[in-house]
Amino acid sequence: MNIQFSQESMSEIQRIIGQYPSERKKSALLPVLHIVQKESNYLSVDVMDKVAEILEIKPIEVYEVATFYSMYHTKPVGKYLIEVCHTGPCMICGAEKTVEYLESKLGIKVGETTSDGLFTLKTVECLGACGYAPMFQMGEQYYEHLTKDKIDEIIIQCTISSNDN
Ligand code: FES
Repeated sequence: MNIQFSQESMSEIQRIIGQYPSERKKSALLPVLHIVQKESNYLSVDVMDKVAEILEIKPIEVYEVATFYSMYHTKPVGKYLIEVCHTGPCMICGAEKTVEYLESKLGIKVGETTSDGLFTLKTVECLGACGYAPMFQMGEQYYEHLTKDKIDEIIIQCTISSNDN
């Protein structure tokens, strides 16, 4: 498929590429992936191939990076992406129970998206908020000291605000 990114994305991509020597376009890979993921929801093979073409690198170089970092998604994600930290300190404070509760509440397993396309559940490594465990990130916001009641409230708020839109 011949992917075309928006003019706005392409200008931003060109601006970032311009920050590096012309033979080092590859250095722009991480920010470029953020830009195209924001536009495309996730990094499909076609999207990654287009990025490789723009940066004049091999597609495998893009795949390697996109599959290594948890902030990149190679499958479609829901409107609300819940990323539960499951590293040591959060595990000690109940990350596993948090994940189990979210799975039962949303009716999905880690890595899946609800059938209405609203929620995707992932587990990630330390998000740097260990003192506030257990916690998850949703969008740009952290939700900390999670309890079942807090999770219920967050899910309700997301559902309400998505109905309003
Ligand atoms: S271990 Fe969860 S935020 Fe650090």
